[in-house]
Amino acid sequence: MTRGTVLLTGGAGYIGSHTAVELLGAGWDVVVVDDFSNSSPVALERVAQVATGPSAGHLRWHRLDIADTAGLTSVLADEAVDAVVHFAGLKAVGESVAQPLRYYTVNVAGSASLLRAMDATGVRRLVFSSSCTVYGDPERVPIDETAARGASNPYGRTKLVVEDMLMDLAAADDGWQLLALRYFNPVGAHASGRLGEDPEGIPNNLMPYIMQVAAGRHPFVRVFGDDYPTPDGTGIRDYIHVVDLALGHVAALESSDDLPGFTAVNLGTGRGSSVLEVIAAASRAVGRDVPYQVVERRPGDVAATWAEPALAEKLLGWRATRTLDEMAADHWRWQSRNPQGYAGEGAGPPTPPA
Ligand code: UD1
Repeated sequence: MTRGTVLLTGGAGYIGSHTAVELLGAGWDVVVVDDFSNSSPVALERVAQVATGPSAGHLRWHRLDIADTAGLTSVLADEAVDAVVHFAGLKAVGESVAQPLRYYTVNVAGSASLLRAMDATGVRRLVFSSSCTVYGDPERVPIDETAARGASNPYGRTKLVVEDMLMDLAAADDGWQLLALRYFNPVGAHASGRLGEDPEGIPNNLMPYIMQVAAGRHPFVRVFGDDYPTPDGTGIRDYIHVVDLALGHVAALESSDDLPGFTAVNLGTGRGSSVLEVIAAASRAVGRDVPYQVVERRPGDVAATWAEPALAEKLLGWRATRTLDEMAADHWRWQSRNPQGYAGEGAGPPTPPA
């Protein structure tokens, strides 16, 4: 018997596709809406291939922009959706500085469009993709959910505004169950090597860049500063395996009935790793040293952030279990088997599985 039907906006993206696999495996029927502006239908074909098993749910998808409130309303009603996980959005910090209106339109107005469609159809359970970016430059680590919020760029501000919108909605009407999951640094890939992150252009984030160096696409990793007040001088982050993150969404959906109103929960491991530790783990995964050079600090970077993940364990019964070595090994398997990501496969409109 199915657990219910969950709609994933942006379900073809990096975190969305991994979450789709875990939800299907847990027995949920999954309906994806995605405009494929920064993702590929091939990812969904692979989700359907990977998520098999006697109790797996069914996957369906629709090409749709979340700005299309009427289209979303029809999908929510026609598919008899019980809950929504909202991944769709833009996430490049530098781009958000150059094109703020685009970020406010897609991330903020897009979320409002989704919430209006949910309100119109009586779907009141939402899990929202938030980010540790809402903590800005944290006053202390580990960061718990009571820490002050702030943002230093338009991308981060769009996440803050959507969280505020959810809080206002919960205050106005106690029928809503609204969970914001604040992700730390997602890395890794599905263990099958069939699903992973497919960044457009040259990645800004550390792990995908390291893996492209390992694949020979760049000569070396630039380590942005080794004079931070950390043990080896390089920046520390809380890297979390994308499959652990995906399982956090399954746990969130299964707990949200007990969590009325608005709740924000960190999804991190509670462990920080330095840039040099990540390069070392990647080198072990690849089987040879990944070259690097220390360069200037990147403007806007903080020295160290990692999560206090206790609330997720308490409220959702979830904690991350995968190690940095597993993150690197899985990321490398994906990178080495799919050097061009999803490109070159399955061009044209997707064929939904029967
Ligand atoms: C970045 C974004 C953050 C976003 C997150 C999504 C910035 C300033 N912050 O966070 O808003 O939510 O991605 O995952 O863009 N590093 C290198 N060399 C590289 C790349 C990174 O040394 O080529 C270092 C950084 O200085 C940092 C660490 O690696 O210490 C992680 O960087 P990154 O993967 O970009 O993540 P964040 O900076 O945490």
